[in-house]
Formats: sequence, C-alpha cells, structure tokens
Amino acid sequence: MMSHLLVYIMVTIFVAMSYTPEPKPVPLPLHFIAPGASTNSGALASHPLHAFWNLHLVEGALWNRLQHLKDRENNPILRDNTTGGRGPATESTSMHGNDGSPSCKPDHLWASHLPDFNTMPEQMKYFVLSMHCRNYTLLMNQPDLCKGQDTKADAPLLFMAIKSQVGNFENRQAIRETWGRTGWVQEEAGVERWQVRTVFLLGRQDITTGPHPDLEALLQLESSLHKDILQWDFRDTFFNLTLKDVLFWDWLSVHCPQAHFIFKGDDDVFVRTGALLDYLNGQYTPLQGTTKKVRDDFLVGDVITNAWPSRQPTAKYYIPESFYKGVYPAYAGGGGVVYSAALARRLRAVSQWVSLFPIDDVYMGMCLQRLGVSPSDHPGFFTFDLPEANRDKPCAYRKVLLVHKRSPKEMLTLWRDLKAPLAEC
Ligand SMILES: *[C@@H]1O[C@H](CO)[C@@H](O)[C@H](O)[C@H]1NC(C)=O
Ligand SMILES: *[C@@H]1O[C@H](CO)[C@@H](O)[C@H](O)[C@H]1NC(C)=O
Ligand SMILES: *[C@@H]1O[C@H](CO)[C@@H](O)[C@H](O)[C@H]1NC(C)=O
Repeated sequence: MMSHLLVYIMVTIFVAMSYTPEPKPVPLPLHFIAPGASTNSGALASHPLHAFWNLHLVEGALWNRLQHLKDRENNPILRDNTTGGRGPATESTSMHGNDGSPSCKPDHLWASHLPDFNTMPEQMKYFVLSMHCRNYTLLMNQPDLCKGQDTKADAPLLFMAIKSQVGNFENRQAIRETWGRTGWVQEEAGVERWQVRTVFLLGRQDITTGPHPDLEALLQLESSLHKDILQWDFRDTFFNLTLKDVLFWDWLSVHCPQAHFIFKGDDDVFVRTGALLDYLNGQYTPLQGTTKKVRDDFLVGDVITNAWPSRQPTAKYYIPESFYKGVYPAYAGGGGVVYSAALARRLRAVSQWVSLFPIDDVYMGMCLQRLGVSPSDHPGFFTFDLPEANRDKPCAYRKVLLVHKRSPKEMLTLWRDLKAPLAEC
C-alpha cells in the first residue's frame, strides 16, 4: 500500500518537473490525410516539410528557364482547364514581350539571354538564333507512301525513318538494296511476311561550310525514281537533327497513321530487319479474342542513363552551361531506336511543350520523361559496334538487331553473308 503511494508521488513529481509552461508550436501531424482516405491506414504519405513545387525559375541556363515556363503552363493541376485544348503559349511571349508570333527569322533577342553568346561555337549560336522555329516547309513529300494500306493486314508493321543528308546517295542506295527494302519482308525465324516502308529524312544541303557541288537536281531525280525522300527547308546540320524528329512526327500523323512500329536511325547503321520483325511481332499485347494492341509506351534501343552534357568547347556535343544545366534524362542512342506508332503520337503531342534541344536523342529523352515513359534497353542494339575481332564473323551477328557503323559497301557484304542460315552457329 505504502509502496504504491510512493510510486504515485514520484510519478506526480516527475510529471510536474517535466512540464514546461512555455507554449510550444503545435507540431504538424505526422501524416497528411487526404480527404476520403481511411484513417487507420498505416501507409499514408508523410506530411511535406516544404512546398513540393519549385516556385523559382532555374537560375542561369536558358533552356532550363524556357522549359520551366512551359512545364508550368502545361501542368494539368495548375493549368486552368476551362479553355480546353489550348496550345502552348510561345516562350517569346513571356521572354520577349512581343506579340509572340513564331516567325522563323533569326531572333537576336535570344543571344541577349546568354552572357557568353559571342564566345560560343558557331553551331550553338545558329541553334540559339533559330530555336523558336519548328514549322519548316516540306520541299519533297511522299504523300502516297502508305496509300491503299489501310486494312489491318496491309498496314506497315515497320516504318523506317532514316536520317540522311543530300550527299549520301550511296548510303541510301545500299540501304534500299539491303535492310531498308520497301514492300513485303519475311521474318527471319518465322514464315510470315510483313509490310515495311522506308523514307529518308533530309534537310537542305548545308552550304555555309564552304563550296559544295549543287546536288539538288540529282536529288530530284532520285526522289522521282524511288519515292522515298522527305526533305524540309532547313539547313541540314548536326544541331538541327531534332527538327527531323518533330517534323517527322507531324508527317506520320497525316500520311501514315496506320503504321504499327517506327524505326528511326542513321544511314550508316546496319539493321537485321528480319530479326527485328520477329521481335516486334512478339510485342503486341493480346486483347480479348484475336485482337492485338501495340503498347503506347514501347521504345527500345541502346539506353544511356545519367549522362552529363559535354562541357568541352571543342567537342561535337558541347553544350555550354549557360544553355543547359543538369543531367540528361535517360535516352536511347540516336544511331537507331524502335518505338510504337502509338508512342509517336504521344511524343508529337508532348513535344509541343518541350523546347527544342540541339541533340536529337537527348531531346527525345526529354519528351519521354514528360510522358512518364522509360526507354527500355535492348542488348541487340550495338551503337558502339561489336568487338573488333568479331566483326567479320557472320555468327557474331546472331543476336544483333542493329550495329553502328557500316559503310555502304560493308552493308552489301554483310547482307549477302547473313543471307546464309545462321543456324550452324
Ligand atoms: C479538362 O478538359 C478536358 C478536355 O476539354 C476534359 O475532357 C476534362 O474532363 C476536363 N477536366 C476537368 C477536371 O474539368
Ligand atoms: C512559321 O509560322 C509563322 C507563324 O505562322 C510564320 O510567320 C513563319 O513564316 C512560318 N515559317 C515557315 C518557315 O513556314
Ligand atoms: C537550322 O536551320 C535553320 C533554317 O535553315 C537555320 O536558320 C539555322 O541556322 C539552322 N541551325 C543550325 C544549328 O544549323
């Protein structure tokens, strides 16, 4: 009895001692409880300590600032939905304060946003002065490429869009005769045949780098003969390659929306088209009955993650810090990448909200990031070539879907050598 009383007194004193009269700030509840959530769930998210959105524009880098504005405008939570499908307001409205018309004249106001503009390499300067423009005229079109292939069986399983340049006649011809043949192409392992369509994506011959022979007439001839050239009215330079993506997505949506898969790559790679068809044919998701569906987040290639911009001013890929800050999102190397046409439609839509970036494969990674799509790595994409000792052995190509880089002559040899069955490997 006494001991109980003693314990009671001690506890009372202890409680009294630990009591502090100063008013403490009311602590935030440990968990934020969303309306409608069951309160006895142990898995509630913790209360955010700071605002979880970024109110400040990224300091310095021009691309990041422009993109920040676009991301905010395109934020479906913050955006006023009453105006419906409003397109992106142009960055010139916010950055320049003019009427915002996306005229394609070089815009020197951009340079004023870059303190080191005058010391930048030429290609960066050219890019900055025209990065607000993406509506270039189509000079050579192939409007009938997918005409009459509207039924399920006839629609191209694979649509190959190959980045080329006016002068690369030999590459294009070798591709036509080998892995880029248009028409019915047989799977490698199976017996089924599928429609394949090939086009070459070109800009205007870049004549700013010195005197060049005028090849336009020859190109006209080639185009009328093969009907596989798309040419737009912009200078075909390395830093303008992104334009080929965005303009091709526009073209595809109008002229070949029925295609199932897109290949986009360089004209100096080798593709085992039959093996690619085998692989793609397995990428349908079966629905009820016999209907099949292509996923709208399907993209495979040689995936590069955690890449940083090159800060070496003499490098081909040099991006100054005043233009872009931060790590690149995951992207598939531009030598060759395959994605579903359903994803191409989504890329086309989201690209309206992504500022042009001078490196085309990084730009696609930026678009994918905003769609919440992760590119998948496929070990068959050898954009850095096979080990040198194996390059001449046909058997080494058994697991290859794409390999970089091969000259037109090598394409022809390889194609012939790989015709023989690889079963003996
Ligand atoms: C927003 O707009 C779209 C397209 O007009 C509409 O389908 C959707 O229901 C709207 N959402 C809200 C929350 O009002
Ligand atoms: C792009 O569109 C703008 C606005 O409509 C126009 O002023 C400009 O001339 C167009 N550029 C090209 C190359 O067609
Ligand atoms: C891209 O093409 C446009 C139109 O021809 C040109 O004005 C611009 O300088 C080019 N950009 C680069 C980086 O070459």
